[in-house]
Amino acid sequence: MPAAKPGTAGHICGNRILDTPATRSFDRHSLKLGLFGLNCSGGLSATLTPERWEGTWAQNLAAAKMADAAGLDFLLPLGRWKGYGGETDHNGGSLETLTWAAVILAATENIMAFGTVHVPLFNPVVAAKQMVTADQIGAGRFGLNIVCGWNVGEFNMAGVEMNAHEARYEQGQEWVDIVTRAWTSDAPFDYAGDHYSVTGALMKPKPVSKDRPMIVSAGNSDRGRDFAARNSDMMFTGIHTEVAEISTDIAALKSRAAGYGRDIGMFTNCYVVCRPTRREAEEYHDYYALEMADHEAVETLIDGRRRRGQFDELPEDMQRTLRQRAGGGNGAYPIVGDPDDVASLLIRLHEAGIDAFAMGFANYTEHLPYFRDEVLPRLEAAGVR
Ligand SMILES: Cc1cc2nc3c(=O)[nH]c(=O)nc-3n(C[C@H](O)[C@H](O)[C@H](O)COP(=O)(O)O)c2cc1C
Repeated sequence: MPAAKPGTAGHICGNRILDTPATRSFDRHSLKLGLFGLNCSGGLSATLTPERWEGTWAQNLAAAKMADAAGLDFLLPLGRWKGYGGETDHNGGSLETLTWAAVILAATENIMAFGTVHVPLFNPVVAAKQMVTADQIGAGRFGLNIVCGWNVGEFNMAGVEMNAHEARYEQGQEWVDIVTRAWTSDAPFDYAGDHYSVTGALMKPKPVSKDRPMIVSAGNSDRGRDFAARNSDMMFTGIHTEVAEISTDIAALKSRAAGYGRDIGMFTNCYVVCRPTRREAEEYHDYYALEMADHEAVETLIDGRRRRGQFDELPEDMQRTLRQRAGGGNGAYPIVGDPDDVASLLIRLHEAGIDAFAMGFANYTEHLPYFRDEVLPRLEAAGVR
């Protein structure tokens, strides 16, 4: 079936035809924007600044309503069970994402809310029911972000053994197979896998979203890309290359998805520092993400990279950049500058093939209004929103 123009009923995103009122609202913009990480203390910023994000429920609700009223497209929580330590125990306080999404959806009108679900920690049939509940509450605005997990401390905390990388994705495949069948099958079904066996599973009611809620999966590895190509409407992945190389990367992902008879879009994580002048933005970026960084938490954030031998060998200026990305955005891609800089970089990345930007702000409710008032009109004028 040919893809309709974005914004019209029947536009195809991934494998789904987006024709519920809510998913149409997600798809009304070519360049999609959302807030990322607001459910956790610190959000994406490992900083000691007094304005750092606490992540209380009251703050989450205020940010969600502000984002909804501003016309943003989605809210995406971090799936986090333990913090990164340091003076702030960065991300140590977190609101569980399916509970969070359900209430956010009840309190908003148009914006999508995702649950970020750790495969090994949630029984798939129970999770499918929790997600249907959220989708019903949001009249089709719920989305699933699948994470297969990486943090052994979080597994230990739940008393669940962390499998090797490949096995985590094999388990993820069984999990998503069961969840999607529960969402879509009108007859009871059995499933016998290596990780799960279910008998006579039948889910009522069904999701409000046509077919099923949108699925995003987060990962960077080749195996993670394959999992996304096979199962997800969007792959959620970081930018680790020059902008010029992004298109090639996305073309490879799309061709892999085509091998499964599917299409796939691209979600990325970023953080935004936008001030009236580039200099002010850079100064604030240096202030909160370097000088006032929670240095111990930053070291934990870059630990994985260090263990893979991808840190200590780097030149000092690159180490500084990576530390700043960790302090400013949990390692996400920095978008720093005046409103013209920010809008033009978002457009450039979008033209390279990125569909959706999951954004962190050092403080969501304090910093979103300037972005809303100055950057959104520029994106609208450019025709991408
Ligand atoms: C953009 C992005 C966001 C992620 N968000 C989370 C998260 O919220 N919680 C989590 O436990 N893991 C998160 N992950 C980790 C992945 O789900 C995955 O477990 C990890 O990247 C290891 O898989 P990989 O080797 O395929 O990259 C994220 C990864 C990426 C790339």
